[in-house]
Amino acid sequence: MTAFLPNPVAPNDDRPFVYLNASISADGKLAPANRVFEPFTNSHDERFLHLLRTRADAVMAGHRTVATGDVKMDAGGKRFESIRLREGRARQNLRILVSATGSVSPSLPIFSTKSSPVILLTTSEGFKATKVSLKEVAHVVACGEQTIDWKMALSQLYKQWGVRSLLCEGGGDLNGTLIQAGVVDEVYATIAPFIFGGRNAPTLADSSGFQHLAHGKSLVLKHRFRRGTNLFFCFKVLNG
Ligand SMILES: NC(=O)c1ccc[n+]([C@@H]2O[C@H](COP(=O)([O-])OP(=O)(O)OC[C@H]3O[C@@H](n4cnc5c(N)ncnc54)[C@H](OP(=O)(O)O)[C@@H]3O)[C@@H](O)[C@H]2O)c1
Repeated sequence: MTAFLPNPVAPNDDRPFVYLNASISADGKLAPANRVFEPFTNSHDERFLHLLRTRADAVMAGHRTVATGDVKMDAGGKRFESIRLREGRARQNLRILVSATGSVSPSLPIFSTKSSPVILLTTSEGFKATKVSLKEVAHVVACGEQTIDWKMALSQLYKQWGVRSLLCEGGGDLNGTLIQAGVVDEVYATIAPFIFGGRNAPTLADSSGFQHLAHGKSLVLKHRFRRGTNLFFCFKVLNG
């Protein structure tokens, strides 16, 4: 599986290499319509997720993803820490939680693990809401007034936090805005043999999406492989 991992080289000296990873049903959903996180892929997918993390200086997820499951976003144990160290990365990846409103509870499971700093990426509004409540548990970084300015945010992560490779693990809203901002370099998707259906179920890329085919992002298939009943795909995104 290591043959299918990214070789993360920052595209310029202003932002990290950005890659997404998601497990999806055959109809492209991240979860059923109740949006409750329940694993639906196999053990190979879990291993691949941790291997993908070994190439990341930071792992990022949206507020709903972090708030609705036991999400810690750490390296995943000694075995993966050793790979990180062998490849010249820090023992643990930084962890980034994205919230525009900043209405984040300090008692979320992600804050209970002190494996590495948690950065809350937010707006100026969110900064006001969290600077006291999350003082003990996160580094709050504001980029943008009401929405996150991704150019500014990625540049700060690159320059102030030394992030050269950033893995985004969803959910659909966060993935969608990153794709629309044109800052995603590669997409990793594992397809599991289910159909969830439902227009309220999250998909790999939600947010407002592209209105016209001509504006959609084109992908080039880099790798595909099968493990058990799951299919794994890696795509390069053309023009970010
Ligand atoms: N199968 C998989 O691989 C996988 C992976 C991840 C998640 N999931 C599932 O996906 C669902 C969650 O996805 P979701 O789309 O509902 O939510 P999400 O993207 O995880 O989180 C949405 C929230 O994150 C913040 N956010 C996202 N993008 C932002 C941006 N560009 N700027 C500022 N804030 C931003 C906002 O928080 P505030 O409201 O606080 O402002 C927003 O309400 C859950 O069911 C989860 O289990 C599945």
